[in-house]
Amino acid sequence: MSRIAYVNGQYVRHPEAAVHVEDRGFQFADGVYEVCEVRQGMIVDLSRHLNRLDRSLRELKMASPMSRAALTLVIREVLRRNRVRNGIFYLQVTRGAARRDHYFPAPDTPPTITITAKSTDPSVAAKKYANGIKVITVPENRWDRVDIKTVGLLPNVLAKQQAKEQGAQDAIFVDRDGIVMEGASSNVWIVTPEGELVTRPAEHGILKGITRTTLMDVAAKLDLKVAEREFKVEEMMAAREVFFTSATGICVPIVEIDGKPVANGHPGTVSASIRDAFFDIAEKTPI
Ligand code: PDD
Repeated sequence: MSRIAYVNGQYVRHPEAAVHVEDRGFQFADGVYEVCEVRQGMIVDLSRHLNRLDRSLRELKMASPMSRAALTLVIREVLRRNRVRNGIFYLQVTRGAARRDHYFPAPDTPPTITITAKSTDPSVAAKKYANGIKVITVPENRWDRVDIKTVGLLPNVLAKQQAKEQGAQDAIFVDRDGIVMEGASSNVWIVTPEGELVTRPAEHGILKGITRTTLMDVAAKLDLKVAEREFKVEEMMAAREVFFTSATGICVPIVEIDGKPVANGHPGTVSASIRDAFFDIAEKTPI
């Protein structure tokens, strides 16, 4: 079965799916995106992802490509056509195709919208949950609007590649004062030796993850107290648990940072119980 992508109103075979050579997403990273998990035939947290998409578009003064009802129909159709039961969809909107010029194009330039979907193997995630992952820390070098989910991800790409070259799987951005910002494609959480669940505030400096937001709901249901406060690398190294949250991994334990074991080098029980409860509590939209 060949994969199908949605490109500007049409469902096309994945190998032929393409946008214009002067698309502003391609030329200026002038676009935004969302990644959403699909599990057991359900889209996880769709409303929150589409709310964040609306916010990203608003912040960049970009037009919405279609109504939410229409977008939901198209997303479900892409998932159906790709027979995704467990996996993700990826949605990208750019300011459209126009002659290369830094100024915004004419207001009637239609936005470009593409949606792809793929199945993922749940056993790959299960292995990460069982073993945990190794990460490195890297200096924060991104612009100060990372609260907008733009496709301008070059620092994130370089950080992840550096991690790979150093034998780790991921990277955590740390600011000049040693304060932990976020992962290259995830938010960071710790469980302190006293059992407090901590993540940094998301008003600025990081992306406000949807998984992060839903995890707050999960923590409330499990009677776990969450503190939103900044923490430094030293506190993270001494934490009882460290983990990432994102739509692609939900809750991934970290067992080594910069070559040193954290959390005794083993995935912890708090992140496991949160992960187990997550799907039940998250919003589920049938495909
Ligand atoms: N990334 N921070 C960054 C920089 C991210 O790129 C992401 C998600 C998150 C977590 O957000 P959410 O819980 O809404 O997935 C935090 C996606 C998965 C990606 O780029 O593939």
